[in-house]
Amino acid sequence: MTGDVRTIEWTGDALRLLDQTLLPARVEYAAVRDVDALVEAIRRLVVRGAPALGVAGAFGVAIAVRQAAREGWDDARRDAAITRVREARPTAVNLAAGVDRVLPFVAKGVDAVVAEAQAILDEDVRGNRAIGAFGADWILGRVGDRPLRVLTHCNAGALATAGWGTALGVVRELHKRGRVEIVYADETRPLLQGARLTAWELDEAGIPCVVQVDAAAPSTILRGLADVAVIGADRVAANGDTANKIGSVGVALACAAAGIPLVVAAPWSTVDLAVPDGDAIPIEERPADEVLTWGGARTAPGRTGAFNPAFDVTPARLVTALVTETGVLEVSAGATPVSAGATPSAV
Ligand code: MRU
Repeated sequence: MTGDVRTIEWTGDALRLLDQTLLPARVEYAAVRDVDALVEAIRRLVVRGAPALGVAGAFGVAIAVRQAAREGWDDARRDAAITRVREARPTAVNLAAGVDRVLPFVAKGVDAVVAEAQAILDEDVRGNRAIGAFGADWILGRVGDRPLRVLTHCNAGALATAGWGTALGVVRELHKRGRVEIVYADETRPLLQGARLTAWELDEAGIPCVVQVDAAAPSTILRGLADVAVIGADRVAANGDTANKIGSVGVALACAAAGIPLVVAAPWSTVDLAVPDGDAIPIEERPADEVLTWGGARTAPGRTGAFNPAFDVTPARLVTALVTETGVLEVSAGATPVSAGATPSAV
């Protein structure tokens, strides 16, 4: 496999999703043709990662339009179905943004919706290549032009996007340039996106990688074993506060304490200028079972509940650099998305 893994693809009558719940044991695809199946696939993380969710949301509108025609829905029922897709997961802004971007095309028919959704997909792949190049340039300039020890959290790779990846796009580009010594991949409790998905992608790409438990990350950083941390984002607020997989803020605090850069790699489609700061980012809370069971067996005593936020917010002051497809903002030095004067629609 290369960064060209087909996470998500429109096949003409269905959305073909690489089922990420089965990796790395099995490479299987799901064909999604109706809204219920898509909402379920999004909630179960068959498809996941902010940019991939944006693409899924956009094609989800096409699925709803087709299903409405097939099953004789009126516009209200179709629109309610689209809203269910839009709200299937709350934190990654890309999902709602993907839906919203194709909505004006609904009146023109399903082919127009599909064409716009495909444009989102194609832009994402192109953007990730640019993120990779900008990120690698910045890191090598800032940290040193030598093989680096890179720490990453969750999966912000080809699987989380339409291809190549954001954080892992940077890692892939560094590797192409012979500048990766090792990647520390945080395992990412409770759903193991790091151990299952990041490790799989890096292994397929021939990039040296070790998996560590999430709790090891701050110590790895403070012991001087990592030169830089590169992570993705689910939503970046106007002031540069950044939501990403739970555990990211611990990585960020350790980077600040150790004096190494925390690089957030994300497309402008993940920037939400309507949200002023991280406090306004909705944080998804997931089912207790994900925390209280292991391999199907309960690990905590019967009456114990769980607190299972899927994301946390890293304050802008801890984000050294935000790498987008248009360049690098040095956020902790004061360059926020708003001060950059950009809007997602303007880039
Ligand atoms: O719950 P997930 O697996 O959808 O969470 C994904 C992440 O947190 C990613 O790091 C983020 O979406 C960036 S993907 C390029």
